[in-house]
Amino acid sequence: MSFRAFLVTKEENSFSRNVVARQLSDLPDNEVLIDVKYSSLNYKDGLSATGNPGVTRVFPHTPGIDAAGVVLESKDKNFTPGDEVIVIGFDLGMGTPGGFAERICVPGGWVVKMPRGLSAHSSMLLGTAGFTAAECIDKLERSGMTTKAGPVLVTGSTGGVGSVAVKLLSHIGYEVVAVTGKIDQHDFLEKLGAKEVISREDMLDGKDKPLLPEKWGGVIDTVGGDILFNAVKGLKYGAGLAACGLVASPQFSGTVLPFILRNVNLLGIDSVQLPVGQKKLIWEKLGSDWNVDLIDLEVPFKLETLSTGIDRILAGEMVGRGVVSLGD
Ligand SMILES: NC(=O)c1ccc[n+]([C@@H]2O[C@H](COP(=O)([O-])OP(=O)(O)OC[C@H]3O[C@@H](n4cnc5c(N)ncnc54)[C@H](OP(=O)(O)O)[C@@H]3O)[C@@H](O)[C@H]2O)c1
Repeated sequence: MSFRAFLVTKEENSFSRNVVARQLSDLPDNEVLIDVKYSSLNYKDGLSATGNPGVTRVFPHTPGIDAAGVVLESKDKNFTPGDEVIVIGFDLGMGTPGGFAERICVPGGWVVKMPRGLSAHSSMLLGTAGFTAAECIDKLERSGMTTKAGPVLVTGSTGGVGSVAVKLLSHIGYEVVAVTGKIDQHDFLEKLGAKEVISREDMLDGKDKPLLPEKWGGVIDTVGGDILFNAVKGLKYGAGLAACGLVASPQFSGTVLPFILRNVNLLGIDSVQLPVGQKKLIWEKLGSDWNVDLIDLEVPFKLETLSTGIDRILAGEMVGRGVVSLGD
């Protein structure tokens, strides 16, 4: 039986992208076969679609690190045909054919049942980016962040992780300060709930100083580099920064001073290998207390239009969340 898939093929000096018919026999022989209804577009999909060897090494390949749909067949007793499910991370869309296709076949240990309060569409409006924003907030709160701690800074704020972080933080009562490189998006960020918007350039003020005035009750950093460490230097005593991304740079230079003088925490965030039990708890939160309407963030795609979205996300020009519909 054939199904439609977005296929990236390695050419002599480039990678081509086409929507093609694939066979079930093209999928790995894993435990759970899923009819994918929605996927979502993340920065990592852009890297996979352009042959970044840190993400995908074997081509032809179907990217898509996220998928939500309905179980068609399962060799794992935890799932039965008809179950609505979500799969994000692990090897999906990296070495394993991903969610930019009408079918995926994955190990049962990657699959989470759709929590109450979410649907295939709303879960993919969140996708890995929204899930990661929630994981950052969850870890910051577990390390002591509260709504009374002071403003929370979000960097890369018009992107997938950043925009959901701004909306979710303001929805649950935090004062949010957004950092952006897109001066024309101030209104968008204020509508999402940002109290203040700072330019990327201003965020780099004081780059050469060892410490900055204590401002932030918490930080969600999606960009890395000097912006990350300037944010660490501006954390209030005992506060934390959740580091999840590297669009500016994977490297930063800094001193131990904020850590040993201000007792601040640098928290690592990984949504990919996070054990499925912990993923389930965060999805359940997103379906209940942290359930927030993100429809104004949606940038809709079909398999046929996805290539433009991949170019936009790689150019840092995407605003909001790309949602890929696999239906008719
Ligand atoms: N750790 C994890 O498990 C995990 C999960 C998901 C994503 N991530 C990572 O998190 C990062 C963000 O992902 P995303 O899906 O939100 O990507 P995205 O939608 O492309 O957003 C990234 C945003 O960063 C800003 N930006 C772009 N280039 C920049 C530069 N050179 N310097 C500073 N800021 C820049 C832009 O926002 P502004 O114009 O508003 O500044 C851009 O919209 C990526 O590095 C991704 O790989 C990690």
